[in-house]
Amino acid sequence: MDKKRANGRYYTRGNPFQLKPFQRWAKDSNLEQQIVLEPFAGAKDIPRLIDSSGFLCQDWAFYDIGPGTEGIVQRDTLTDFPKGFNVCITNPPWLARNSATRRGLPFPETTNHDDLYKYALEQCLTYCEWVAAIIPEAFIRSGLFCHRLCDFISLVPQTQNGTGQDNQSRNTSRMFDDTEHPVGLALFAPHGTSDVRVWRNNQLLGKLSELRRHLPLASRNRNIVFNEPKGNLGLIAIDNTVSASIRFCSPAELGEYRVRYQCRSITKIGVPWCVDIDVLNVHLATIRERTHDVFFTAFKGLRSDGYYRRRLDWTLARAIIDIDNPQLTLNI
Ligand SMILES: C[S@@+](CC[C@H](N)C(=O)[O-])C[C@H]1O[C@@H](n2cnc3c(N)ncnc32)[C@H](O)[C@@H]1O
Repeated sequence: MDKKRANGRYYTRGNPFQLKPFQRWAKDSNLEQQIVLEPFAGAKDIPRLIDSSGFLCQDWAFYDIGPGTEGIVQRDTLTDFPKGFNVCITNPPWLARNSATRRGLPFPETTNHDDLYKYALEQCLTYCEWVAAIIPEAFIRSGLFCHRLCDFISLVPQTQNGTGQDNQSRNTSRMFDDTEHPVGLALFAPHGTSDVRVWRNNQLLGKLSELRRHLPLASRNRNIVFNEPKGNLGLIAIDNTVSASIRFCSPAELGEYRVRYQCRSITKIGVPWCVDIDVLNVHLATIRERTHDVFFTAFKGLRSDGYYRRRLDWTLARAIIDIDNPQLTLNI
């Protein structure tokens, strides 16, 4: 398992290349006429998926540090990236730097990125004009490489009952063999794009800047103290497995729950004014609805309503609480 993790090796399954945004990208990149690079080719799953989506290209060039099948050039493409290709379609290796450190796995010293996939993506974007990459869904919150990003698709697998998803989502069911990590398909163009279209499978959720507009103003109010055992506000910061259930609550509801400093799922918060919990939950629900949860971290595993479980991080929670800061309201 660790060898697999060291090379970030989870092969692609499911087919995101039948989705509308990819079809447009394939047309814009003139895929039919291109020799396409797969610099982290694994067992050549990506060309099979492209093929079964009905796309043609002139040819493929395959590289991998540990080829999973025949016809792949053995090469460390992170240190010696193949040159001379216009178009790259890949699912690069993923490995968080802290996970590598914890497990004693090697991590390139030539990058400051916190995950191998960001470094791999940087290489692809440096040498190729058009890049399509299957990467963690969290990428859309990183703000990286946005000047070349034209579309980002959150790939939500189809659940058995199919609730909440459109029919085409079936194409994305079970993206990986042995991980259900939330994933997205990022589509990059050669020139700057004015905004990023954000999708959930085939559903256009909106432009990234428009979605951001529904977020509250960032707050630096350090008088709002998280993990405060005597706090006057409770927060259940992760969805349950059934529905969108993140909510603020009274600290009494958390009973004798012992606040743990490292915990990011349930907490008590010290707020220096009398909070209206119902109003906070209305803010939260409105933000979730209008942003389609794009800025909430997704978890492994789907809720039974067919969407990813989400977590509300402390930065956004602080901003929501501060919306009703009486001092700010008085200053208006
Ligand atoms: C996430 S897997 C994806 C494989 C394939 N792209 C797919 O979608 O099925 C990542 C691949 O990157 C390869 N890899 C990891 N580090 C590499 C490196 N430095 N140079 C080339 N390939 C590497 C692994 O061997 C693995 O096959």
